[in-house]
Amino acid sequence: MKVNKAELLITAVKQSQYPEEGPLEIALAGRSNVGKSSLINTLINRKNLARTSSKPGKTQTINFYNINDQFRFVDLPGYGYAKVSLKERKKWGKMIENYLVNRKTLAEVFLLVDIRHSPGEHDKVMYDWIKSFGFNGIVIATKADKISRGKQAKHISMLQRELGVENRELIIPFSATKKTNKDKIWNVIKEILMV
Ligand code: GTP
Ligand code: MG
Repeated sequence: MKVNKAELLITAVKQSQYPEEGPLEIALAGRSNVGKSSLINTLINRKNLARTSSKPGKTQTINFYNINDQFRFVDLPGYGYAKVSLKERKKWGKMIENYLVNRKTLAEVFLLVDIRHSPGEHDKVMYDWIKSFGFNGIVIATKADKISRGKQAKHISMLQRELGVENRELIIPFSATKKTNKDKIWNVIKEILMV
């Protein structure tokens, strides 16, 4: 998809701040620092429209991005960042749940996990949530550049087993630095939007 327009619509912490429901939305969930903002930037060819940081916990709000007036990316706050108080973490959990449960225009949720590591408890809960709300749950295995190509299949199998993903095709290795599978993810998005 050719992206002519990409803009941050709003940074929301509560439902009253969400933009009105309009174009379909694709949400990105995953632990802090996994590469959610980097995925958005890579897909739309922008260096830092979605702010990235080597410090975890950069995105603490729900950020809505308008893409071509055609659909929206919704960058969810990263979970599992230990340096944040329990109270604060609970607040994030509620914020994410509230969005997932109530948003009628939410078309799909991408769960991002680091290809190198076993998914954490939060990832498993999030994946089960996504499935129970009736989404396919596309798993993006990020930072694929950090392991050799030869090891990728083994890591994908590990993710499939530990998250309980039925269809291996729903796990896509991705690298923001090498742009691995950028086109593949765009094809998935086009299928979701039926364009
Ligand atoms: P929060 O906003 O804290 O939830 O994090 P996030 O999931 O948005 O992660 P972000 O995109 O900010 O990336 C975190 C760090 O990982 C940054 O230093 C990125 O440059 C790095 N990073 C992201 N994707 C990749 C990747 O595919 N390969 C490598 N090597 N580094 C990556
Ligand atoms: Mg972020």
